Amino acid sequence: MKDFPNVLEHGIETVQSGVFPLAGNWSKDHFKNNNPLVLELACGKGEFALAMAKMWPERNYLGIDIKGARMYVGANEALSSDLRNVAFLRTRIDFVETFFGEDEVDEIWITFPDPQPQDNRAKKRLTSPMFIDRYRKLLKKGGEIRLKTDSDFFYNYTLEQIEEQGYSITKRLDNLYAQLEEVPDELASVLGTKTHYEKIFSAKGYQIKYVSFRID
Ligand SMILES: C[S@@+](CC[C@H](N)C(=O)[O-])C[C@H]1O[C@@H](n2cnc3c(N)ncnc32)[C@H](O)[C@@H]1O
Repeated sequence: MKDFPNVLEHGIETVQSGVFPLAGNWSKDHFKNNNPLVLELACGKGEFALAMAKMWPERNYLGIDIKGARMYVGANEALSSDLRNVAFLRTRIDFVETFFGEDEVDEIWITFPDPQPQDNRAKKRLTSPMFIDRYRKLLKKGGEIRLKTDSDFFYNYTLEQIEEQGYSITKRLDNLYAQLEEVPDELASVLGTKTHYEKIFSAKGYQIKYVSFRID
């Protein structure tokens, strides 16, 4: 992926250096436009970033994950289809504040995150207060966080956080595929994108859930 123009890989060294020139300038300097920027966290192969980039060409999409082999699949497909409004950042989501300016991000998707059910891993959940505080710095006021998951545990944990922390739900679909008519057609089409992990867990009979919320 080192030769891919649509992939950036950054580790702790960048975080420690405190220097990341694209922070605050992703749309202008990487995508070469002034369009809104949307993140897909835990993107894996980036199926959602790709589906959204095709559906909404007037927005820029950035998939973030630590696993390179998965990211390669999405990045390669984006290059093959000449999809220029999608890119990938390989790093730990824990470092996300380093890579964006204040209010730079319009929306954050979290797709099938690891549920991390053990108590001692609560801080690793991508909707824990610690992660939400990181997102707060880069997410525009009124920007939504959108979660799609198969995990009852993670879904209920997120709903608890929304309640406890006073975030506001904008849409909640406890059984996404039975409720798709409740959202606009384009969003319904994107929400119907089946990722690698969704296929695995749907085959085991897990019901797919979606919630979007605001944190300000
Ligand atoms: C269950 S997979 C889901 C991948 C993809 N969204 C899908 O639905 O197929 C969870 C992904 O989150 C990534 N991940 C989990 N915690 C992370 C972190 N702190 N930083 C970066 N990536 C993380 C993993 O590498 C993995 O690819």
